[in-house]
Amino acid sequence: MSVRLRSGHVVEPVSEEWLAKMEKIQKLYNHGMVRLIPDGWLYPTVFTNFADKIYNFKFKSSDVVVMAVPKSGTTWMQEILWTMLHNPDLKNPLANTSIFMRSPDIESDMFADGKGRGDEGSGGFDQMFQFLCPGKDPEDGMFVQLCEFLPDPRIIKTHLPLSLLPPDYLDKTKVVYMVREPKDLIVSMYHFFRFMKIFSYTGSFDSFVRHFMDNDLLYTPYWPHVKMAWEKRDHPNLHFVFYEDMKADIMKELRKVNEFIGANLTEQQLENVAQHTSFTSMRERGEPLMEGFWISEVKEKSGGFFRKGTTGDWKNHFSSELEEEVNHWIESNATDIGITFKCGGSSSG
Ligand code: A3P
Repeated sequence: MSVRLRSGHVVEPVSEEWLAKMEKIQKLYNHGMVRLIPDGWLYPTVFTNFADKIYNFKFKSSDVVVMAVPKSGTTWMQEILWTMLHNPDLKNPLANTSIFMRSPDIESDMFADGKGRGDEGSGGFDQMFQFLCPGKDPEDGMFVQLCEFLPDPRIIKTHLPLSLLPPDYLDKTKVVYMVREPKDLIVSMYHFFRFMKIFSYTGSFDSFVRHFMDNDLLYTPYWPHVKMAWEKRDHPNLHFVFYEDMKADIMKELRKVNEFIGANLTEQQLENVAQHTSFTSMRERGEPLMEGFWISEVKEKSGGFFRKGTTGDWKNHFSSELEEEVNHWIESNATDIGITFKCGGSSSG
């Protein structure tokens, strides 16, 4: 009998054909993967244990959620929002702890189960869980509960699409949706999938790009995720931000975010935020995840989580044939949605 989630999605096993293709080139988590129909979202099977909890999650009007397909600049925006709301004068000692602790990812329980994440250690999340959620059972979802018990105003992160979140989510809470030119996003994701133990991707760059376009990778399909948010871009609680605009003029984007979340920061405080959340500053403060999560040799070569932080790095990765193929895929889908991506020109940004 098929399982139906509260969101209305039906959980379908992945096909034998998909398994034969993908299990050779990446890890498939503790219990494999499933597709959520009709949208086709591809998630670790364990996600379905937590999907209804997330769908019923009680968002508050004081929350700010950062929402994005991974590698769109999610972490950058999390750090900006946390700094704006909890550290505008740069005096909060918690600022030196990992941003993933101060702003957890609501769906991260999908990577864990009784047998762990498939990499080493909990990266300190279990200590934080004991501190913030005393007496609670991590089996009920460590990350979803961490989000619940964060001190207000909560900065919550999600890579989930709108259709898996509560129906009144946008009416309850403010959401900053990050978007990034897809070729740069794919390059960033390729490196990330190679050096993170939970993914351990071993295929070529070209096949990664094709798997992304064919919706064969976790977090795909890409276009419906963007489309669902883009359609709501005029909603007063949704603020759309292009990574490339932040690279071009961070103060301009910070002023807009300041107004959107009603933080009322002064120009000096916004300067503090810009300085504290610059690529160089964030990189210098160190990786946001612990060592056990990486394949060290691969990570060293690729540059780690704060890899390049630029626009246009795709030019160093795509053959002209693949570029043409991907550009066609982007153009036809972006036209259909009505979104125009900002193409960061240089790779030295
Ligand atoms: P690259 O791999 O291209 O360097 P996410 O947080 O959504 O996973 O996105 C990660 C991408 O954002 C990485 O891109 C990372 O370097 C970049 N990034 C993180 N912090 C940044 C910052 N302060 N400024 C610019 N880019 C940043």
